[in-house]
Amino acid sequence: MLPWLLVFSALSLQVWGESSVLVSEMLLGDYCMPPVVSPAGAPAMVSRSTWGSRPLSCRARLSPPVPYLITEQLTGMECQEQSVCSQLLRGLQSHSVHAKGWCDLAFNFLVGDDGRVYEGVGWDVHGLHTQGYNNVSLGIAFFGSRIGSSPSPAALSAAEDLISSAIQNGHLSPRYIQPHLLKEEICLGSQHPVIPSKACPNIIPRSAWEARETHCPPMSLPAKYAVIIHTAGVGCNVSTDCLLRIRGIQSFHMDRRDFCDIGYHFLIGQDGGVYEGLGWSSQGSHTYGYNDIALGIAFMGNFVEKPPNAAALEAAQDLIQCAVAKGYLAPNYLLLGHSDVVDTLSPGQALYSIIRTWPHFKH
Ligand SMILES: *[C@@H]1O[C@H](CO)[C@@H](O)[C@H](O)[C@H]1NC(C)=O
Ligand SMILES: *[C@@H]1O[C@H](CO)[C@@H](O)[C@H](O)[C@H]1NC(C)=O
Repeated sequence: MLPWLLVFSALSLQVWGESSVLVSEMLLGDYCMPPVVSPAGAPAMVSRSTWGSRPLSCRARLSPPVPYLITEQLTGMECQEQSVCSQLLRGLQSHSVHAKGWCDLAFNFLVGDDGRVYEGVGWDVHGLHTQGYNNVSLGIAFFGSRIGSSPSPAALSAAEDLISSAIQNGHLSPRYIQPHLLKEEICLGSQHPVIPSKACPNIIPRSAWEARETHCPPMSLPAKYAVIIHTAGVGCNVSTDCLLRIRGIQSFHMDRRDFCDIGYHFLIGQDGGVYEGLGWSSQGSHTYGYNDIALGIAFMGNFVEKPPNAAALEAAQDLIQCAVAKGYLAPNYLLLGHSDVVDTLSPGQALYSIIRTWPHFKH
């Protein structure tokens, strides 16, 4: 996904503080930004009749509020004026109906580079933009920008207003999720150089930290994502300290947060140790919306200002490679920073700047 889409999703999460609160409550010792409530201006909306649409013949209805938001950018539709944008949309609609055999445009709304929102199939019916999500999402497409350019500030702001009003009017859940879709990433992933695999790191088992016995729901393996997190607590640089800390985190997560176990799949110490948290096959409690499909790897410590040491960074990279080699992580997995999907400081800016250079990082 393009960087502006991520910025855009972070913005909308901040505006809608409620969603962040839910998520941040799940993070050990992390602090969330105060919710910023901004009055939602309704965006300038160009109705179907105004842009000269054919009548809507799609029937499959959405049940509001839907939990997902999908955004995409359409290329090859450059326009700056309402009349030209409208003409292009009519062309796209004809193509969708005649060439693709769809009932209408694929998107619920289309946001022009002119800062106007053009009504696609609207609030009430399914789009046809993303297989598997059409009946549970609103799909928004940006169009009008030059090939290779991001949407204009006016378009991004119009989309924010559209999302705000979707939430206010009960079309979109305030805790909506903007999934990171794998479809565009399959080719991105294959552009990364193939790194020769190393031996799996020695994983220090749960028994070493005297884990409590638990019964969490299973992961859906292979995982599609690896999420890098920091615990934001005190770090550890000798194994005995790390073991104590991890036991403490499990107690905190289970007794205070009501998680079914420690929230992370694996933890990394400044001693360069890889510690089994939940392990490979149980669902985590680290990243709302991703717990069953993402391996949560937590560096113990706070890495806002200083990054983890080389031993810890290497341990985490070895663990990720090992996960792929053993089939626990999909070969075309995406690497995410915790803050890419949750409104949080985790994994800390210093660590984030490092992981964004790692293979498979979601740009
Ligand atoms: C959406 O479609 C899927 C697959 O057809 C179906 O399993 C699911 O129940 C539908 N969800 C809703 C909310 O209609
Ligand atoms: C290990 O961590 C302690 C604090 O937890 C710190 O005082 C000490 O300097 C660290 N040692 C090394 C070698 O980094």
